Amino acid sequence: MARRSEQVAILGAGNMGRALARGLRAAPTTRRFRVVLTVRDPRRLAPVASEIGARIAGSNRAAVEGCETVVVAVKPQILPSVLAEIGDALENGTTLLSIAAGVSTARLEAGVGEGVGVVRAMPNVAASVRSSATAYCLGRTARRRDRERARTILGSIGTVVEVDESLMDAVTGLSGTGPLYLFLILESLSDAGVKVGLSREIATHLAIQTLVGSAELVRATGEHPAKLRDLVTSPGGTAITALHSLERSGLKAMLMDAVEAAARRSEELGRSRSPSSATSSEGAAKP
Ligand SMILES: NC(=O)c1ccc[n+]([C@@H]2O[C@H](COP(=O)([O-])OP(=O)(O)OC[C@H]3O[C@@H](n4cnc5c(N)ncnc54)[C@H](OP(=O)(O)O)[C@@H]3O)[C@@H](O)[C@H]2O)c1
Repeated sequence: MARRSEQVAILGAGNMGRALARGLRAAPTTRRFRVVLTVRDPRRLAPVASEIGARIAGSNRAAVEGCETVVVAVKPQILPSVLAEIGDALENGTTLLSIAAGVSTARLEAGVGEGVGVVRAMPNVAASVRSSATAYCLGRTARRRDRERARTILGSIGTVVEVDESLMDAVTGLSGTGPLYLFLILESLSDAGVKVGLSREIATHLAIQTLVGSAELVRATGEHPAKLRDLVTSPGGTAITALHSLERSGLKAMLMDAVEAAARRSEELGRSRSPSSATSSEGAAKP
């Protein structure tokens, strides 16, 4: 007998919501999903929805009707009003998957019925090319079925790992904010290539492929990066000379400081988004 398709509502079809919808369409399991989208102003969504093969609902409440999974992809400060709109419309057994930065599972659970399984995730901007490094955590009410649904949906935009909720700020500092570090590194390497005489085009191409290739090598070998670094460091060569320069500049400490600072900021923002701090003016959608 043919398997019944699952209905997924994506509330807030902005950058991340659309990436998820596209991921569901492109993933091998796509045929199992019927996707319903909402935004604030649906008129501009029609071309995207038709490209993705998704339906547009007139309201969040209408969108969640009959859905097995409801993905909340609005900005964190919009989330309370969306939860108020849909909270009592979610049926028992529904999975609520939120990607809103800094909004705890406890806060999400407070807005829905006991029978709704809550999952909180932190993807990154590479979701738009289905290469996100996403971590998620389960809420108190989540069951195996909720985990499976979340993993399938998040897996359609990249890789997925499960962590304890206490580590979500650390995740935000490392992989949520991570594209920024690597964009800056790529920009710097591209500039450096131009400085030593390469064209911008060739410098950027070489920088990108070196970054991707090095990451692939670490992944493929499973080796500690320091071991691979040692393998390319020959006596008196270019690598040890460059390493000396990088150590003098403190690159490693700079990156560690940046991740730690971003994790700390994520924690602060999470506190400001808790119900006891309802006057938060923080409006950033980005992690
Ligand atoms: N961007 C990232 O790299 C990133 C990474 C990790 C997590 N996140 C999280 O992902 C979420 C979305 O971020 P984003 O960058 O995709 O933001 P975005 O592009 O601004 O998308 C937000 C969407 O929400 C829609 N919206 C606003 N009010 C709504 C309502 N009441 N009902 C339904 N939809 C509504 C907006 O509609 P209109 O288009 O009509 O205004 C917009 O399409 C945020 O919570 C953020 O913390 C983002």
